[in-house]
Amino acid sequence: MAEVADHYNASSSTYSEQYDESKILTSKEYPANYFRLKRIKERVQALGLTSIYELGIGDGSPLAAMAELGLRVGGSDLTEGMLGVAKAQFEAKGFDSSVLTLGDIQDRSTLTEAIAAGPYDAVMALGVLPHVRDEGVVIDNMSAFIEPGGTLFLQFRNSMMSLWSFNRLTMEFIEEELLKDQPQEVKDVVRAGLEPRLAMDKPPKREWDVNGPAYDEILAKFHNPFELADLVREHGFTDVRFHWYNYHVTPPMMAGELGQSFRTAGIAMEDTDTWRGMFLCSSGVIEATKA
Ligand SMILES: C[S@@+](CC[C@H](N)C(=O)[O-])C[C@H]1O[C@@H](n2cnc3c(N)ncnc32)[C@H](O)[C@@H]1O
Repeated sequence: MAEVADHYNASSSTYSEQYDESKILTSKEYPANYFRLKRIKERVQALGLTSIYELGIGDGSPLAAMAELGLRVGGSDLTEGMLGVAKAQFEAKGFDSSVLTLGDIQDRSTLTEAIAAGPYDAVMALGVLPHVRDEGVVIDNMSAFIEPGGTLFLQFRNSMMSLWSFNRLTMEFIEEELLKDQPQEVKDVVRAGLEPRLAMDKPPKREWDVNGPAYDEILAKFHNPFELADLVREHGFTDVRFHWYNYHVTPPMMAGELGQSFRTAGIAMEDTDTWRGMFLCSSGVIEATKA
């Protein structure tokens, strides 16, 4: 499996495009991260937060948006490439870039100084959990940045959408999660019955045109929202709630039949935060309070 850092070092120079509000309707890829950030900004304001720390800052756009809201911010990233782009963005916007450092969300020893500069009202990791080996360690490391009453924002790729995609991921979800404890005989019958009905050749691999490994070639896990919520609680958080984004109003393989309506209908559902998101959305953010 390719290195996570190589993928993000290779994508750092073009990463900011996804936060360009003027391209929401025209960008090649659905601007999912734009809507994720919009929702978090709304929550930050609703909760009256005054400071936030981010792990895995990427190009710095989400954290700069927090600084623009008037919050005290700090952040870190695994890669030199992303850190460089984030620092440049902070400097261009007149923010102090010395609050941005290298740091690995899975390795507390790389975060010691950053933790000492806290505590913050909130801590967030967006787009990072898919790439980690030990989620419990990550939640504990994030928790170190906040005090009891502080807020956690933790993004994840939603495995439950597999029940709406009717493709290879559906088969994997059913066999490996839903029927995990069933005897092989049961799994074999279900596989034989479902495989001919599912698009087993989908999803296709993502295309990538820069000199780095594609997203599919690095560790990029899905998480089950029920299990992740339990884990967050086990690691000292309460009041767990979900925010859903990146709505798919059809299974992804039918999106092309709707053309632009797929995007406009999806955008109309962003921010609705109902139970439908658990099935229609490819990603979610857990919000929780440190106990
Ligand atoms: C999908 S990007 C998201 C960036 C930003 N949070 C955003 O929402 O736009 C994931 C970022 O996490 C960083 N990353 C990956 N693994 C990490 C780790 N173990 N520790 C810290 N950052 C990591 C990558 O370098 C990349 O910048």
